[in-house]
Amino acid sequence: MPPEVSVPSLFQLGYYWEAKIFLTSVKLDLYTPLANGSKSAEQLASEIKVDTDALSRLMDALVSIGLLKKEEDAYANIPQLAEFLVKTSRFYMGELMLLQDAEWDHWGKLEEIVKTGRPAVKDNIFISRPEMGATVSRVLHRMANRVAPALAEKIDLSSYETFIDVGGGGGAFSIAFSKRYPHLKATLFDLPQTLKIALENIEQEGLSDQIHLSEGNFNQGSLPDTYDVVFASDILHYQTDAENAALLQRLYEATNSGGVVIIKDMFIGDDDAEPGWNAVFSIHMMVYSEKGRCFKGKKIREWLTKAGFDNIVEIEKNTILAATKGI
Ligand SMILES: C[S@@+](CC[C@H](N)C(=O)[O-])C[C@H]1O[C@@H](n2cnc3c(N)ncnc32)[C@H](O)[C@@H]1O
Repeated sequence: MPPEVSVPSLFQLGYYWEAKIFLTSVKLDLYTPLANGSKSAEQLASEIKVDTDALSRLMDALVSIGLLKKEEDAYANIPQLAEFLVKTSRFYMGELMLLQDAEWDHWGKLEEIVKTGRPAVKDNIFISRPEMGATVSRVLHRMANRVAPALAEKIDLSSYETFIDVGGGGGAFSIAFSKRYPHLKATLFDLPQTLKIALENIEQEGLSDQIHLSEGNFNQGSLPDTYDVVFASDILHYQTDAENAALLQRLYEATNSGGVVIIKDMFIGDDDAEPGWNAVFSIHMMVYSEKGRCFKGKKIREWLTKAGFDNIVEIEKNTILAATKGI
C-alpha cells in the first residue's frame, strides 16, 4: 500500500537538515569524547579543534533532536545511543553514517543523473574506491551478522558437502553456515582487498580450517571449482542486466548436479503497484555506483531459468530465491 500523504508528511520528506546535522556529528565524532562524562562546548571544541560557537550551536541542535542531553553548560551522551555512537563500543554503527555522509555530494547530483541518465561515479565502490569499499564491507559484515545465523537455521544444508559464498564480503554468511553445518567445506570467493577483511573475521571465529579463501573476479572466467551449494548475497544489485545473466550462467556451471543455488538480494516487488522500499535503495545504487540497480524478483527467475536451474522457490519475500540443478 502506498503511504498516506499529507502536507506535513510532504514537508518532512523534503527536509534533510536533521539528517545532515546527525551525519556531521558522527563525522566529527562528538560522542566518543563524551563517553566518560559530560563536557562543555569550550572543552570539546578545544579537544577536537573546531570553532566553539559553531560547535555549541550544532550540539544544541543535537539536544533538540534528542541525540545529546545538556545540563547547565555541559553536554552528555544519551546512554542508549552511546553504545552505537561511541567509537570504542563493540556495537558502534558510526561507519554506516560515515558512509552515508561520504555519498552526500553524489546525492546532490541526482537531478543531473536523472536528466542525463549518466552515472556520477565510475565502476563500483569495491573496485574504484577500495578504502571506502573496505568500510562498506565492515558495515555490511556487521549488518549481515545479525541475520546470517537465522538464515543458516532456516536453510537446511545438512545433506550437502561443499559450499561457495560468491562475493562473500566479510564472511558473515560463510561463518554462519559453517558454524551451523560443521561438516560443510566452505569457500569464500571475493576480490583481494575484501578477502583481507574476511580473513580477519574468519580467524577470529577460529574457522580457518573450514573456510577456504579464494581470490578472483566473478565476472571473469569460471569459479575455482564446482560446489553443492552456490550462495550469492547482495552482489546482483551492483551489476547490469547482462552481467547478471552471465554471472548466473557461471554459477550454474559451478553448481554440482543435484546442487542448489541461493540468491539473496534486494528485489523490487513484482507487482508494479507495490515496488517496496528496495525501489528507494535502487536510487542509492544509481547515485553511488556506475551501473548498480535493484531488479524485480521475476527478472532473477528469468536469469535462473535461462541458466538451466529449476524448482525456483522464494525463501524470503523480495530477498531470497533458491533453485536446483537437475541430476
Ligand atoms: C555488497 S557486498 C556483499 C557482501 C556479502 N555477500 C554480504 O551479503 O554481506 C558485495 C561483495 O562483492 C564483492 N565483489 C564486487 N565485485 C566483485 C567481482 N567482480 N568479483 C568478486 N567479488 C566482487 C565485493 O568485494 C563485496 O564483498
